[in-house]
Amino acid sequence: MTRIGFIIFIICALNGVSYAQSSSSIIQTESPKGWIIKTNSSAYQIIVTANGTVKPGYYGSKEQADYVKKNAAWFEGIDEVPVRGGLPVKSPVLEVVFADHVRDAELELINGEIITLNGRQTLKITQKDKIYPLQVISYIRSLPEYDILEKWIEVKNTSRKDALKVENLMSGNIVLPSDEYVLTQLSGKQMNEFQPNESLLTPGVKLIENRGFKSNYNAPWFQVRPQSSNKDETGPTWFGSLHYSGNWRLLFDKAFDSNVQVTGGINFWDTELNLKPGEEFQTPKLSVGYTPDGSEGVSLNLGAYVRNEILPAEHRRDMRPVLFNSWYATTYHLNEEQQVGMAKIAAETGVELFVIDDGWFKGRTTHTTGLGDWEVDKTKFPNGLGSMIKRINDLGMKFGIWVEPESVTPNSDIYRAHPDWILSYPSRKKELPYRVFLNLGKEEVYQHLLGAISKLLKENKIDFIKWDQNTYLTDPGWMDAPADVQREVRIRYIQNLYRLVDELKRSFPKVWFESCASGGGRIDYGMMSKMDQAWVSDNAGALDRIFIQYGYLSALPANTMVSWVIDQIDNFWMQPISLAYKFDVSMSGVLGIGYDIRKWTPEERTLAKNKIELYKKIRPIVHQGILHRLVSPFNNNRCALQYNAADGKSSALFCYNMAKYLPGSVLIDRGSNILKLKGLKAESSYRITKANDVNDKGSIYKGGFLMEIGITWPAKNAFESQILLINEVN
Ligand code: DGJ
Repeated sequence: MTRIGFIIFIICALNGVSYAQSSSSIIQTESPKGWIIKTNSSAYQIIVTANGTVKPGYYGSKEQADYVKKNAAWFEGIDEVPVRGGLPVKSPVLEVVFADHVRDAELELINGEIITLNGRQTLKITQKDKIYPLQVISYIRSLPEYDILEKWIEVKNTSRKDALKVENLMSGNIVLPSDEYVLTQLSGKQMNEFQPNESLLTPGVKLIENRGFKSNYNAPWFQVRPQSSNKDETGPTWFGSLHYSGNWRLLFDKAFDSNVQVTGGINFWDTELNLKPGEEFQTPKLSVGYTPDGSEGVSLNLGAYVRNEILPAEHRRDMRPVLFNSWYATTYHLNEEQQVGMAKIAAETGVELFVIDDGWFKGRTTHTTGLGDWEVDKTKFPNGLGSMIKRINDLGMKFGIWVEPESVTPNSDIYRAHPDWILSYPSRKKELPYRVFLNLGKEEVYQHLLGAISKLLKENKIDFIKWDQNTYLTDPGWMDAPADVQREVRIRYIQNLYRLVDELKRSFPKVWFESCASGGGRIDYGMMSKMDQAWVSDNAGALDRIFIQYGYLSALPANTMVSWVIDQIDNFWMQPISLAYKFDVSMSGVLGIGYDIRKWTPEERTLAKNKIELYKKIRPIVHQGILHRLVSPFNNNRCALQYNAADGKSSALFCYNMAKYLPGSVLIDRGSNILKLKGLKAESSYRITKANDVNDKGSIYKGGFLMEIGITWPAKNAFESQILLINEVN
């Protein structure tokens, strides 16, 4: 140790810890032996015990100066990579079976290094089993400005002759200090995705998971706050999300008088991996974070993180085009003239991307036919797609198309040619459902899909793919595979799905991709690292969408949130909603139009044109700005979303009334009449104008006033919306 290092050791030792000097966010410590990873607001401690076991220590606020002293002890029974073996106090992250059938593992530290991965400091901890040929490397990559740590694990079978069975391998765990906690999860179903649900974490294990083989209408996401902080908007909060698009699990394991262990990863239900000698497996990432700022901090951090770090780099900074989608307008009954007819109106109104949805390919007359035959239906498009695409391009719009590569209908040429390509248990002799999964675990299926979609993209000028997936996996049989491969099918499938999208993106780097699975059935950070945006719900009713979108924005940024204006009335509300209101709801994300615009009256066309013009002006703030979700529709009969430019000079504020506005009536007018804004410069003056009123000269307020005193809620009538534009005037 150098002299300077020694002095620092003395000073820091007074605080209960000694650091090696470093300006970095990951610091090696000597007493206790281990590491501390610091982000803007958090500290994550790892302790190496005298016998070489790696344990998680404190995880929480960086401000608590005495955290290391208080927690120089580790959590009993929990390791940084908890394995099956020893005292089974908490949930294991790794469960293996060795060749001699021993099912216990016992890890010891080999070394820990601070490395750089994609420009970020990363702690790499290598452990091995004390006796058996098993190497386990766990990673923690630090993204300090988002208060996020990315965790993942690599397991290697280091034997030269024996296979290693992996019965469970999750991405990692964190341990929260002893307290009573409330969990918020995003649950939901088709047409009602991303609904926040709260529950008290009582002793025992709370498991949220998916077995249906898509993210399943709820992102693999969580947020946990102490019960004592009874407001969810502020206060210490731990959060996280898994980067995986297949079956997943999040476990919250709480002992009676102890801490809470949060574990996340692939769901090994009906799944196992058999690693051959020398083989290794890497888990998907689990992002975890800590913020002192409640759900506000969670959505701010995750929104920025996904937008800047996760979304595909090619279009990360681009504005998402205003789109039209044909699905609700023409379903399976498409033809060139009818689409071009709508395209002309769309172009005049300001639409930038025209997408034809399901129904364009061979034999696709209903939902039970044609799926998997990715050639244009010549009865609907006798000139092929080329002529229509050209006419759409000539109108100044890009062209996009729908595909559902992973499934087929038994009534299709592809199924008739390759019945062995689907996942099923043939001995069950069941009648097949009308849509079945291709076994993407098979190399020939992967190659076929790569060929078919590449051909489509090569032969046609396609700028955008909507990638749908509408099937639940019910019969995961891969009967012609070796026995030790059959139960790997779900994992191999997702590996090849990612490989397929990656390969297509490599060959066609300019093409945009949208993730869809019967609405928002497959929206997770794994898929969002490949897709530029997501179709959030088949429920495009504006009132329902306010709730769905508010939930969505807890985990994902607005520039991924595709939202169409449609003509149907809301499913649950049975409430006619004005076209202006519908636009205002859709304009808070990626604006789209999803119905037959040939029916528009001249007034509606003008309204649509004006709205799209306004949207294009505020789009940079909506897509790249900082979102403060000011008023939750779940607690009020209204909702407010404020998008701020990063420099604090301008904002777009969306306000929605979801019921009648009756000042003073506590029962009906739930929520305050005053709206306090966020993220402005206190000393600056701002002009606030109503975007819908061209004659509004607006009023000027100090930023401090807007944030501390607030404005009167701007929408007076039932089911009225307002977009306020807030601009600095100094
Ligand atoms: C389900 C999607 O969610 C819809 O938007 C539409 O693309 C249909 N599939 C088409 O079959």
